[in-house]
Amino acid sequence: MDLPKEALALLRKNRRVTGGYQYTVPAQGKYPYQWLWDSCFHAIVLSSLEPDAAKAEIRSLLSRQFPDGMVPHIIFWEKGFPHLYDWGWGTNGTSSITQPPMLAYAVWEIHKRTGDKAFLEEVYPKLLAFYQYLIGKRDPQDHHLVGIINPDESGEDNSPRFDTPLGVKSDITFLWHLYRRHKLVMENRVCNFDVEMCMSKNFWVKDVPFNAILVKNLEILGHIASLLAHNEGTHFATEHKKLVAAAMRERLFENGVYWSASDHVYRLLKVPTWAHFAPLFADLYTKEEAEALIKEHFNNTETFKAPFGIRTVSKKEPSYQRDGFWRGPVWIAPHWFMYKGLVAYGFKNEAAFLKESTLSLLERSGFREYFDPETGAGYGAKDFTWGTLALDMTEV
Ligand code: GLC
Repeated sequence: MDLPKEALALLRKNRRVTGGYQYTVPAQGKYPYQWLWDSCFHAIVLSSLEPDAAKAEIRSLLSRQFPDGMVPHIIFWEKGFPHLYDWGWGTNGTSSITQPPMLAYAVWEIHKRTGDKAFLEEVYPKLLAFYQYLIGKRDPQDHHLVGIINPDESGEDNSPRFDTPLGVKSDITFLWHLYRRHKLVMENRVCNFDVEMCMSKNFWVKDVPFNAILVKNLEILGHIASLLAHNEGTHFATEHKKLVAAAMRERLFENGVYWSASDHVYRLLKVPTWAHFAPLFADLYTKEEAEALIKEHFNNTETFKAPFGIRTVSKKEPSYQRDGFWRGPVWIAPHWFMYKGLVAYGFKNEAAFLKESTLSLLERSGFREYFDPETGAGYGAKDFTWGTLALDMTEV
């Protein structure tokens, strides 16, 4: 497979322009809109291939930012299947929930590749407003952990991490799970998506990957703000980066790993998923802890390490299903997050394993949505864009 050529061809094929805004759909047919973290991934990959398209991806994403700073997880640019993917009021053409905050990272990649400071100046106020929203509104108790109000905000829609707070059993089917999440959207409509009310009544999870991604992005927001000599922004980002990291350590760390937590009392959700590895992305383990994590979990073939990569859920979990969407299969974005973390810690062999297994999945099954960890078979959408992230796995 000629990866650079095929990746660029796919990103171009999935490119759309509506009302003057250019964006990339994750997969023709199944995902015909613009998604928040997907667009950040597209921008990261495009930053070195077609930087103007990368910038357009960010501009279109930010064009529907809410007055309070929230960036919605879907922009319904074109009419598609709103009955299935309508996660909001349907007003202003967006959903009413967000997704992991990868925006600062994506913007910084564009700047690193182009040196375009004017682009940073242009998007900075909106970036700052988004992170201020997360810190200001998503942490009503001022405990420095950001909460999500729907599993879909994690980007891992039916992950078993959320079974307990969602009130579902581990053998739930995909469709019942979707139904339950839609019911949650209806419940959140009743409280008008007012975060504090919706959270305390319906679903409130302090998720590990979401907060780890936030820490990394606050660090980068700090770099952007200081390059632009925006002292207040630098202060905000560096302070909150430290506070969120410390709160994760204080409330989410137990037995050598990080666990997501729910409710006001921070009940730990003890379901082993790839979330254990996500904090590597934000340097949240000490070197010794990271070594133990790699030995006991990452390289453990009975739990996470599979012939075709790292399972998103431990094989020992009752909820594990090798073809179960976010209940076990390999997904390329988690591979990419773990890869970046492992490279930064200097775990070259493990990073190389992720890169090689990613490439072999693409070679074997093409740009599929997710993959069977045991056989490498591809599942879900075809011509799904996340596989293009393999182009950004070049350090080892
Ligand atoms: C699925 C994924 C989510 C992604 C979306 C669009 O819902 O779980 O993470 O953003 O598809 O690709």
